[in-house]
Amino acid sequence: MLTIEGLRKEYGAVVALQGASLSLVPGTIHALLGANGSGKSTLVKMLGGVVRPTEGMIWVDEQRLETGSPAHAIHQGIAVSYQETSLVPSMSVADNLLLGIEPTGKAGYVARRAIRERAAEILDQLELNIPPDVPVAELPTNAQHLLEIGKALVKRPKYLVLDEATAALRREEVKRLFSIVCGLRDEGAAILFVSHRFDEVYAICDRATVLRNGAVVGTRSLSKTSREELIQDMIGQRISLEPVRQETGNSIKKQSLRLKARSLTNSELGGVDLEVSAGEIVGIGGLQGQGQTALLRALIGAILVRGDLETEGHRGLFRNPSHAAESGVRFISGDRGREGVFGQRSIYENIMIGRIATSPLWQRAWQRGKNRAVRDLVEQLKIVHHSLTQEVRGLSGGNQQKVLFARTLASRPNVVILDDPTKGVDVSTRMEIHRLLRSMAGAGVGLLIASSDDEELAGVCDRVLIMYEGRIVRELTGDLQPSHITKASIEGAQSEKGKGAETRADSL
Ligand SMILES: Nc1ncnc2c1ncn2[C@@H]1O[C@H](COP(=O)(O)OP(=O)(O)OP(=O)(O)O)[C@@H](O)[C@H]1O
Ligand SMILES: [Mg+2]
Repeated sequence: MLTIEGLRKEYGAVVALQGASLSLVPGTIHALLGANGSGKSTLVKMLGGVVRPTEGMIWVDEQRLETGSPAHAIHQGIAVSYQETSLVPSMSVADNLLLGIEPTGKAGYVARRAIRERAAEILDQLELNIPPDVPVAELPTNAQHLLEIGKALVKRPKYLVLDEATAALRREEVKRLFSIVCGLRDEGAAILFVSHRFDEVYAICDRATVLRNGAVVGTRSLSKTSREELIQDMIGQRISLEPVRQETGNSIKKQSLRLKARSLTNSELGGVDLEVSAGEIVGIGGLQGQGQTALLRALIGAILVRGDLETEGHRGLFRNPSHAAESGVRFISGDRGREGVFGQRSIYENIMIGRIATSPLWQRAWQRGKNRAVRDLVEQLKIVHHSLTQEVRGLSGGNQQKVLFARTLASRPNVVILDDPTKGVDVSTRMEIHRLLRSMAGAGVGLLIASSDDEELAGVCDRVLIMYEGRIVRELTGDLQPSHITKASIEGAQSEKGKGAETRADSL
């Protein structure tokens, strides 16, 4: 058993964790829940030895863990998959996987062959088809997150800690991870599982500890606890889980077209036509990896594509994302590390980037207005922070995501294109963001949103386009239900496959 006693962490004046206690029991999966910035990752980092507690103790099988020592944590059987990953981008896949636990040969040399073999084994277990020699920097984000998990699994831990490990994964990858994790549990390991996704928590966890403002609210058995009760623990009040779409109604008048695309074609897209009107939120659904990401990136000029594009005051494809941004077409990605925040810059700079005043005469007045505007946005989005000048990397993951939203809002866009925008965002903030998207639409912005979460699409969109193999195969309107979207995604694929078979049969 692993027991945490009164863990406290202060960062200067910020108290990230104020005396948290919990126990991990072998053979169980324990969820750690809480709003963005409630202290989950701080607790996780202390288990991994990368952050030293200000106060408190950790006991592993009746032995006191030497805190602040990653090597000792590994030695005690604790392995952690970190939220923002701990990989070294320039190093190879295999070297990353075995980092810190390199097998050595007789003379004490690092055994290269053993490293490769052990790495291959883990890649195989995760069904990750990548060569062990490539540098990690060359891999797509989801592969990097799987490697981060692999790096923990390779240690054959007795205590496995997963901090939002599933946030960047595709559905089938999550399923694979869960079967591995449940296997470990059955062999007697204890797992601490941090996630904002309730369906995942209910699917695999036995108990849940909820943190609020760095303090433990309580630990509950999940079979006896409802979602609503957990959320109430998390935020200290009841909130309605009703989708926002129904709250504001679906009657916004369609005015002018904000975006019109014709025959978008490249290796991943097979001729996509698309229209987004002012005041409309259009969803992009479908099974994973059917060209959704390519479509969004093609629209903002991030990848090469043929076809035609028209937006307000602009005709033709965009050369690159800044060209799109100049024309009022903004992009928000859930992949905030790679395409988003500037960690070493302040909250203020991150929000105001690209909006620098040019005329000195205006500057002062503008500065005052600007400060207020930034403060309003930060408040509206409930970004947990202590000062607007603090570095963004000191914020919790979900709060970094909110900074991206604030930046987009500050830029007064015509069209906003969103790729999995609420990845890693807690439930109440997610509702807040959905409300915000609705109010942007209400102000005449056209929104296009891809999400891996059908519940999110159903909750916020006016209509949903289903993609299959790089084309839009169906459009859903009216009363959107998550199950309808899921069903249409699967059926869309089947009927398209069927069509393919027919044409083949015809031509025979
Ligand atoms: N290095 C740091 N310096 C200053 N403050 C920090 C640092 N790391 C974390 N904090 C603060 O500690 C608090 C808890 O952050 P933590 O990352 O543990 O939250 P979290 O529960 O993991 O949130 P999320 O769900 O967004 O990942 C936040 O207010 C954060 O701003
Ligand atoms: Mg976190």
